[in-house]
Amino acid sequence: MEELRSAISEIANERVLKLVVSNKCNKELKYNKINFFLKENNKKEYYQIEKYTDKQVFHENIDLEDLEEKLLEYVEGNFKQVSAFSSDVTFELKISKKGKVFLGKKKSDNAKVANKSHNKEKNYILKEGMIIEPLIDLGVFTKEGKVVNSMYDKYKQINRFVELIDDEIKKNDYKELTILDFGCGKSYLTFVLYYYFVEIKKIDVKMIGLDLKEDVIKKCNDIAKQYKYDNLHFELGDINGFKYNNKVDMVITLHACDTATDYALYNAIKWNSKMIFSVPCCQHELNAQIKSDELSLITKYGIVQERVSALMTDSIRANLLEAVGYKTQLLEFIDIAHSPKNILIRASKSKISNEKKEKSLNEVRNIMNTFNLNPTLYKLLEKDNFIK
Ligand SMILES: C[S@@+](CC[C@H](N)C(=O)[O-])C[C@H]1O[C@@H](n2cnc3c(N)ncnc32)[C@H](O)[C@@H]1O
Repeated sequence: MEELRSAISEIANERVLKLVVSNKCNKELKYNKINFFLKENNKKEYYQIEKYTDKQVFHENIDLEDLEEKLLEYVEGNFKQVSAFSSDVTFELKISKKGKVFLGKKKSDNAKVANKSHNKEKNYILKEGMIIEPLIDLGVFTKEGKVVNSMYDKYKQINRFVELIDDEIKKNDYKELTILDFGCGKSYLTFVLYYYFVEIKKIDVKMIGLDLKEDVIKKCNDIAKQYKYDNLHFELGDINGFKYNNKVDMVITLHACDTATDYALYNAIKWNSKMIFSVPCCQHELNAQIKSDELSLITKYGIVQERVSALMTDSIRANLLEAVGYKTQLLEFIDIAHSPKNILIRASKSKISNEKKEKSLNEVRNIMNTFNLNPTLYKLLEKDNFIK
């Protein structure tokens, strides 16, 4: 036991990227093989353990300092071999039938293991070290291009948003685009997208950010001017009733509260915008309307009613978009552990059969009837005869 502990301790003291525990000797144990991978999330490293049974793989995450104990627990009396790889050393630990422990250690270049063991940071489009000057002014990056700690979640959200836009943009050879960002607020996303289109994709864009807050609009216009982002402008105004007379290719919203998202989607539909990317939040409207005698269990518990109402809101929005000719998806925007506001509506104008449009609309009407709902986007589209 002491021999085994000391060998395992020697391995655990290296920064091992991957460990493979094999050669099972305990027939009672349900796991046939166990792998450990060094991973990183939010700048925190940990080990992910994969435990293989005959038919399944089970996962467990542990802190780095628990590696030695965990390894000992799994190996002792159960397995006869451990292979471990740090970036430049490979360990081979073997246990003989009589319980004698042998630890081999040799220098080796394990770069490939490092790449395979998902411990690298996600390959974001917006990388740390890129100097996007407005983002330094807005407090997302330091002058050296490092993400400010308190802004890390925002940075991840923006990257994910850009990633989802990038997926869509790649499908066509766009030369120029007009983009409206509704409820742009401090406009981190707006500045990043401008940079992404102009500097990375080399697409001519005209971008407008709209918000109700005078001070943020002034600040954003000052920053855009300072960095000569000539085609990026910010306007003071309400999404509801906003008029724009030229063509609009893309509408985006990030956390436009409650029905502000509906007005943004409605504007996009009216303008026949090619693409829509919208992360809603604070979906309160239906929570105040929802009622059902038959399905009263849904409304019996406040917390369930609130969550179901919020989810219904976005399903209804997605279906209404389909009903007016948009191919629509609801995507996970960000891990729910980071933000509960984690659905992104991605819609692109497409040929959708009348049958499918009708089906989508009927699904909306069914749920409206069942739960006594009257959503804003439905009312707006009905008023303008987009849906009949
Ligand atoms: C939660 S903030 C999000 C800001 C920004 N998009 C972001 O994600 O960092 C919501 C913004 O929407 C703006 N907003 C809400 N309702 C609006 C409306 N009807 N018209 C224009 N802006 C609105 C608010 O002023 C606020 O700045």
